Amino acid sequence: MKAAVEALRAGGLVILPTETVYGLAADAANPRAVAAIYEAKGRPSFNPLIAHVADLAAAERVARFDGRARRLARRFWPGPLTLVLPLRDEGAVCDLARAGLDTVAVRAPAHPIAHAVLAAFGGALAAPSANRSGRPSPTRLADALEETGERAAAALDGGPCEVGLESTVVSLLDQPRLLRPGAVTRAQIEAEIGPLAEAEADAKRSPGRLARHYSPKAPVRLEAVGPAPGEAYLGFGPSAPAGAGRWNLSPAGDLAEAAANLFAFLRAADRTGPSAIAVAPIPHEGLGEAINDRLRRAAGFVG
Ligand code: TXA
Ligand code: MG
Repeated sequence: MKAAVEALRAGGLVILPTETVYGLAADAANPRAVAAIYEAKGRPSFNPLIAHVADLAAAERVARFDGRARRLARRFWPGPLTLVLPLRDEGAVCDLARAGLDTVAVRAPAHPIAHAVLAAFGGALAAPSANRSGRPSPTRLADALEETGERAAAALDGGPCEVGLESTVVSLLDQPRLLRPGAVTRAQIEAEIGPLAEAEADAKRSPGRLARHYSPKAPVRLEAVGPAPGEAYLGFGPSAPAGAGRWNLSPAGDLAEAAANLFAFLRAADRTGPSAIAVAPIPHEGLGEAINDRLRRAAGFVG
């Protein structure tokens, strides 16, 4: 952990576990360090990155919070919720990390290792998921190392990610908008601050929503009640077919378990070299909204 914090201070990249997915972290205030993130990920463009902070006090040094933002932060932080807010301090999160926007996305992760690193580092860390651009997010250290390990000065092992899906992104610039469904559900957020508008009307403000994203090498076929010959299959629920080349996202039909398994199983299925990865229908409620968003992207559909 000490070596990781020193590497971050020196402008290096660190693979960092969070409760959602593994991140590739760098000093958000250091443009050269942030440039190295884009380079390591092979990102086609400079999408704005999330500034990770230790807690609400640190977040308030970076962004301007209003009553709604504070309410969400108090309810869901530390945890898998990212808030897009007006920028307070240009120096704390460099222009490149914000892709030139005058807004900033902030989140205080719940994973004890991420929290300890952030507390020791003091400032904000830019940390997109540690995959190469367009690939599924890593939810285990070995997957993160396979993706961007060569570029990292240090990597911390936090075990498998408990949530397994990226954080929910909510914009609070005008009316609250859901920019990316994620681990905190729409219903949980609406219970705190009222109805959320859709992201589409705000598309220019969320350039990170690429159509093809989270993709394995094999094509992905959705809403599949079973596998065709040559296909790998990700099932869901007690009656899903079992056996070689079959994975069950949750035998119990539990959406949280399915979310935690999703990216690791997509990778495992992809490694067998199938003609396609067929995926069972997933209920579109609660966490199912975020799971279906990632699956549609993996299949190449615009979210
Ligand atoms: O769970 C997570 O959020 C993970 C872990 C590592 O914390 N991080 C992550 O970061 O998913 P990244 O960079 O892959 O996703 C950033 C998302 C993108 O959808 C991006 O467009 C949006 O946040 N975003 C960042 N800054 C923004 C801004 N100023 N305005 C609108 N959207 C923004
Ligand atoms: Mg990502």
